[in-house]
Amino acid sequence: MTTAAGEGSGGFDPRDVVARKRDGLELSAEEIREVVLGYASGAIADHVAAAFLMAAFINGLSDEETSEMTRAMVDSGVTLPLRGVGRPKVDKHSTGGVSDGVTLVFAPLAASLGLAVAKLSGRGLGHTGGTLDKLESIPGFRVELSAEELERQVEAVGCAVAAQSRDLVPADGALYALRDATATVPSIPLIAASVMSKKLAVHTDLVLLDVKTGSGAFMKTPEAAQELAEACARLARSWARPCLAAVTDMSQPLGIAVGNALEVAEAVAVLRGEVTGRLRDLAVAFAVRAQTALLGLSEDEAERRARDALDGGEAAGSFRAMVEAQGGDPRVVDHPDRVLPKAPVQVEVKARDGYLGPMDAEALGRVAVTLGAGRTRKVQAVDPAVGFEFYPKVGDRIDGHEPIAVVHARDEAGGQRAAELILRAISITDEPVSGPVLIHGWTGGD
Ligand code: URA
Repeated sequence: MTTAAGEGSGGFDPRDVVARKRDGLELSAEEIREVVLGYASGAIADHVAAAFLMAAFINGLSDEETSEMTRAMVDSGVTLPLRGVGRPKVDKHSTGGVSDGVTLVFAPLAASLGLAVAKLSGRGLGHTGGTLDKLESIPGFRVELSAEELERQVEAVGCAVAAQSRDLVPADGALYALRDATATVPSIPLIAASVMSKKLAVHTDLVLLDVKTGSGAFMKTPEAAQELAEACARLARSWARPCLAAVTDMSQPLGIAVGNALEVAEAVAVLRGEVTGRLRDLAVAFAVRAQTALLGLSEDEAERRARDALDGGEAAGSFRAMVEAQGGDPRVVDHPDRVLPKAPVQVEVKARDGYLGPMDAEALGRVAVTLGAGRTRKVQAVDPAVGFEFYPKVGDRIDGHEPIAVVHARDEAGGQRAAELILRAISITDEPVSGPVLIHGWTGGD
């Protein structure tokens, strides 16, 4: 029997837990477990769980409470031991950004360096893109892999990027959707529990976290991002799991492409060693940390190996093998322009002469959503072909005669509207401005 509030049969009333958190009191492990597992099983109603989340959002959670919440979330489902994978295993997670194709580059790059990456990724939501949506723009690519398939592929190829199965941390799926609907996403303990529950449920030798900061990130300041990085690192430490977290810039798109097929094409160019820039630099930085931690290499040697794997074709070869293993068209590596879907309309965007100044990267991410590349609700389909390329980085000189961006749209009106929105989201200054650092710093590893 369950009441409207979701009172369980054992006399436990979740409203008491909500009231205690509302009043700023510390919750016990049992109270947190009852709420998290009760909500995941459907025994606790949405409105009660939403009130709990808002109370936690406003009054915060202590380290102990965050740890118990994470444990309850992991315990809500199965775990992935990956016992059949012989290579050193590394996982990597980003808190979400715009033109953040690091996973697309890092997973095959790490595989080509002798590591194993079993990556469970998400779909785009809000202004941020999702790796699964990007990969599904490759014709035939399958993201639904069973645990056995995932493990077999990682052992054979070195990497797999797949959807999180429904039985892995189901509490996070339920709570994340409710947080999205109740304006309770940007809370440091709630994000830390959400991110780390998914990382701790998969048994890897190292977790690398990319905690984004800036106008296109959940954490708008480096200080807030650092706090989140430290909260995640503390959780990993309390589980005795090695974890390194970088706070990285998301005050502008990381790469050039924003949109699913466009981002795959850019990742392929990086994997083939054809383009340099911040996307390559960040993927290399993660590959360096993974190799120093798991292979015992010096930073110099690790960096040289990573750059050689990109420039020598080994990383692109691992991407080809992963795409083929997951049913996708492997020719995407050799002829991305022939294999990936293309939008029918291209619109050039020009700005005035000057220097590219600060921008609203979240608004830029939303331009891609407006074009159809992302979703505002979890169940929406995405258009793989649309999006835009935005060429300059903050501080670059802008020549008013040259396009700063090209929009890829379904129709002319949509393309023109997106072009206007892009211009509204950026600033052009007369005085030179300096660009933001790419990596603010690293946390963890001690
Ligand atoms: N990414 C996650 O996985 N969880 C959050 O809560 C926010 C970003």
